[in-house]
Amino acid sequence: MKKMTEFKRHRRLRNSAGMRAIVRETELKTADLVYPLFVVEGDHIKNEVSSMPGVYQISLDYLEEEIDELLKLGIPSVLLFGIPEEKDEAGSGAYDPEGIVQKAIRQIKQKTSELLVIADTCLCEYTSHGHCGLIHNGDVDNDASLPLHVKTAVTQAEAGADIIAPSNMMDGFVAEIRQGLDEAGFAHIPVMSYAVKYASAFYGPFRDAADSTPQFGDRKTYQMDPANRLEAMREAQSDIEEGADFLIVKPALSYMDIIRDVKNNHPVPVVAYNVSGEYSMVKAASLNGWIDERAIVLEKLTSMKRAGADIIITYFAKDAAKWLQEN
Ligand code: PBG
Repeated sequence: MKKMTEFKRHRRLRNSAGMRAIVRETELKTADLVYPLFVVEGDHIKNEVSSMPGVYQISLDYLEEEIDELLKLGIPSVLLFGIPEEKDEAGSGAYDPEGIVQKAIRQIKQKTSELLVIADTCLCEYTSHGHCGLIHNGDVDNDASLPLHVKTAVTQAEAGADIIAPSNMMDGFVAEIRQGLDEAGFAHIPVMSYAVKYASAFYGPFRDAADSTPQFGDRKTYQMDPANRLEAMREAQSDIEEGADFLIVKPALSYMDIIRDVKNNHPVPVVAYNVSGEYSMVKAASLNGWIDERAIVLEKLTSMKRAGADIIITYFAKDAAKWLQEN
């Protein structure tokens, strides 16, 4: 038989569902997902965030049913954000042992040991000016802010947090928090650092959810310029040297190259934060009937894993868990 012109038959490995399954390289699992939760002071509060349909601020009396739902879906972990009743210049609600997040952690831990509780460690939901540290002369004072972040982390660990996730982007925050945790007897509690956090417009809806919009200026003196890649490598490197156990890259969708770079450079679990704006865009389009939400969400979460994420923080965690069960 006359030989056909040489070409490769890639379609051989795609010709049935079984074939596609046996060659599949990446698998999205419910166990990879972290669900962000917004807890608020008060009673009987379940406020839908207007820019994030399907995402709620809840008061602690709704926490129990929320946890039941997550456990039933097989979602192994939550990331807690708090909205305090009152804010002040120094964000004191963040490190109050009776603060909203500390209370939520204790309540979850009293109920179950099955759920991993990750505490977001930052001041911006608690400061009257909305910045992630103390303001001196119109800018965030790095070194003066560090002790407040350490206090926040320690009170969260005392309340029972399993993982401390500092998101403030001050220089030295991992070193100081690590040392503070160790000195307070929490050497066994890991730090999941928001190592690579860009100054991103994709956080807009979150700032509605967490009521943390800066009241003046922006976060560009502490969060990173979206144009930079080498800087991300330096941030990840220093956090590892300072003792980070996990590295977060945030946002995810526009930063897949960074996720891959971080993964290739550091043999630690890499976490992608699929942020609020990424959620809201998909939600808006799907509520308009313009896209297939289920297919799009599973595709993008799988893509984040393919890019190198071991863990994904996502507001779609519950939906994804349901869809993965059905698949
Ligand atoms: C707090 C914090 C932010 C997010 C997580 N932790 C907001 C910010 O830096 O303004 C964003 C999460 C999201 O957009 O989903 N520093």
